[in-house]
Parts: sequence; structure tokens; C-alpha cells
Amino acid sequence: MNLAVVGAQWGDEGKGKIIDILTPGFDLVVRYQGGENAGHTVVEGGRKIILHTIPTGIVRGKLSLIANGTVVYPPTLFREMEELRAAGIEVEKYLRISKTAHVVLPIHREAERRSEERRGEKRIGTTRKGIGPAYEDKYGRRGIRVGDLLHREVLEEKLSILFSEKYSEMTPPRDLLETLLSWGNSLAPLMVDGPSLANSYLKEGKNILFEGAQGTLLDVDFGTYPYVTSSNSSAAGISGGAGISPRFLDHVLGIAKFYATRVGEGPFPTEIRGEAGVRIREKGGEFGATTGRPRRCGWLDLVALKYSAVINGFSGLALMKLDVLDGFEKVRVGVEYLYKGEKLNSFPPDPYVLREVEVIYRDFPGWDSTRGKRQMDELPKEALNFLKFIEEFLEVPVWFVSTGPSREEVIITPEGERFLKGL
Ligand code: GDP
Ligand code: IMO
Ligand code: MG
Repeated sequence: MNLAVVGAQWGDEGKGKIIDILTPGFDLVVRYQGGENAGHTVVEGGRKIILHTIPTGIVRGKLSLIANGTVVYPPTLFREMEELRAAGIEVEKYLRISKTAHVVLPIHREAERRSEERRGEKRIGTTRKGIGPAYEDKYGRRGIRVGDLLHREVLEEKLSILFSEKYSEMTPPRDLLETLLSWGNSLAPLMVDGPSLANSYLKEGKNILFEGAQGTLLDVDFGTYPYVTSSNSSAAGISGGAGISPRFLDHVLGIAKFYATRVGEGPFPTEIRGEAGVRIREKGGEFGATTGRPRRCGWLDLVALKYSAVINGFSGLALMKLDVLDGFEKVRVGVEYLYKGEKLNSFPPDPYVLREVEVIYRDFPGWDSTRGKRQMDELPKEALNFLKFIEEFLEVPVWFVSTGPSREEVIITPEGERFLKGL
């Protein structure tokens, strides 16, 4: 059985935690898009591990593939490998990288820094990891791929095209070619033909977990463009990003928090500007796992989530961080958008529309504590009502309800159990 785990909002929903819980049932975990803009957190036995470029499966000792659809900056990949080694993980044994993944160069980071500064108020608020410029060069057919790092002449030619065509105003650093070759030398033992590897697993009937990064509302096609990342972070990215036919994807699990966050610029209709937003940020530890930036916080937006469910065809949902809403007198959810006084029938991804929508909320009474609960019938009835409303609104069954950061703090619903049994 092959499963995609995809962010349903603006990222940081808790994908890392759910992937870590699911990993034992899978044989291969694949990152198919994005790069080190991601920060996926696993909390096990009181320690916290944050994955950026490497699939979360590695924490549990599963073969982990960085596939062709990703963009990789080797220096930070090496640092991440080192951190995992220090945590006792056998990185070399489990990590593989596709030769056709693209390389992020120092010039990409520099170009992004300049672009964000030039835009000023109109900046995207990127992670400044060079992700956008690396994808620009991929689609501009002048990118450098991981496998190219093994070939001096290929690199010489590609660098000369890149710098004459795109970065003619910048001078290439003198040692760049040697640096790239040394990256290639270090990565060589990990390099594989990614699509062949994934397809051989499919052929043998093994289970693959596709690990989405970012979230659907940051998807370059379906998100709040241009305030998005530069890849298909919804389930749409899987086939092209990993080299497998869409025919082989059995399920898509959407990950969403019981509230919403967004880091970086862009429209956010249910953003809370007052005290409740600060309280969610503090209680939920809503600070970027990659950049440390405070995340903007808001109420759950069911209009946006419904859109995300449609785009991804969610089979199931994992709803995260219920405990963060503990102790609120009331909790709110956005259930409808009005635009120029008229009800909208679906989520309008364009910022110039989103900025002007009026959100209609539904309020629910709060509850005391859900922290660490592991059974549905242990939840306060107010929390249960809130959960049921969300599930019925979205028409997608809830498989997991998360009640704390650690691996054990989770409720698996009967539908979730049924899915796990099928693995
Ligand atoms: P990802 O990018 O989707 O993997 O999510 P992040 O790791 O960036 O952010 C999620 C944060 O919430 C991490 O710090 C997790 O440890 C934490 N977390 C995950 N699930 C829960 C939960 O149910 N309750 C609480 N309080 N924290 C959670
Ligand atoms: P995970 O996988 C939250 C956001 C950035 C910015 C926009 C574009 O941890 O959920 P980029 O650097 O990708 O060009 O920035 O996307 N962003 C994320 N926000 N979680 C992420 O990843 C993100 N990756 C990128 O903040 O708004
Ligand atoms: Mg994250």
C-alpha cells in the first residue's frame, strides 16, 4: 500500500510526527519536492529531531530517498547527516539521493536574498534557502543535477551557461567548480537512480510513504500564488517528483492543525490579530523549525481546508495540536467567505480576492484538557463536538487526533485503525 502524507494548510501542520508514527508500516520513505525550506519535527523519548532535507523515515531506520523533484543544498545536507549520526542514526545505511534531484547553489541563495530585499514590502517572506531560484534554473533548463557533480566537464559547461545566461552580472567564485566536485565526491555513495529504486519497490509490492513538505496552500499551482513555494507541495507533486505512475498511489492523508498558522507573507483570512493569536503561538510553540520566525496564528479555516481536501482527494485526515486549544473559553472556525457581500462557493486562491473576504465564523464552547489523551472517549464532550463538526464539514474521515508533541500522544480512530490494519 502506498500512502502520501500531505500538509493541508500552510505547512508546519505536524507532518513529521504523523510520518514518524506511520513509518514502521512502510519500507521506503520518499521526499518528492521542496528542500531544506522544510522543518519536520519528531519527538521521541524526550528528544527532538528536526529533519530538513532528509526524509523523516530515517529516524526509524527505514530506507529514505531524496527524490528527483527536490532541490538539495549539499552543505546543509551534510550538516543534517552529521546531526543524525550524532543522534545514533545509521545515515549512510538508510539515505539515498536521486541523481536527477537538482542542486541548490550558493548563487541561488544570494539571488533570493537580493530579490527579497528588492521587493521590500512586497517580499514573499521566503526561508531564503535558495529554493525558488533553484527551481527557476531547473525549469529554465540550466540547472545542475546531483549526478552532474561527478563530471568535471559537464559542470564546466553548465556553469558557463548558467553564469552567462542568468547571472551575467555576478562573477562565479574561483573555487566553485572544485567545491561542486567535492560535494559530488561526498554524495557519490548515496546516489541512485531514484525512479528505478521507487519502481522496484512498487513491483515487489512493498509499501512506500511519500512525505510531502510545505502545505497545499503553499503549492505553486494551488496555493495563494505568488505567496507560495516553488514546487507542487500538494499530492499533485508526487508522480513527477518521484518518477512513479499516479496509478500506484492508494491513499492521501491530509495533515491539519485544529487552528491555522502561516509563516512568511501572504493572505490569511482567519488570522487573529489580538491576544488569542499570541496565546496560540506561545502555547503551540509556533516558531519556525527552519528559520525560528514567529508563525502567524489564526482560527481553523474550513473553507480553505475543504479546498485542500478536494485538490488532494484526501482519504483520511490527521488533526493535530488539539491540546493547544485547551483552556480557551471559546474556539472559532471559519465556515464561509463573503466577497463583496456574496457567499463564495469555494476557496479563492488569489491574494487580491482573499484579502477582501469577510469570514463567517462558528463558535464552539471550549474545554479544559485534552493533553496526552489516547482514547476518543477520554475527550471532553466539547472537544468531541468540535472534532465531529470538522469531520462532517469536510466529509473526510479523521484517522488520527494528536494531543501532544510526542509519538505516544495520539488518538487513533476506528477508521485510522482500519487503515493501519491494511498495511
Ligand atoms: P511539519 O513541518 O508539518 O512536520 O511540522 P513542524 O515540525 O514544523 O511543526 C509542528 C510542531 O508541533 C512541532 O514542534 C511538533 O513537535 C509539534 N506538535 C506536533 N503535534 C503536536 C500536538 O498534537 N500537540 C502539540 N502541543 N505539539 C505538537
Ligand atoms: P514544512 O515542510 C511552513 C513558506 C515560507 C514562505 C513561502 C516560500 O516544515 O511544513 P520558500 O523558501 O519555500 O521559497 O518560501 O513558503 N514555507 C513554509 N512554511 N512550513 C514549511 O515547510 C515551509 N516551507 C516554505 O515561509 O512563506
Ligand atoms: Mg515544519
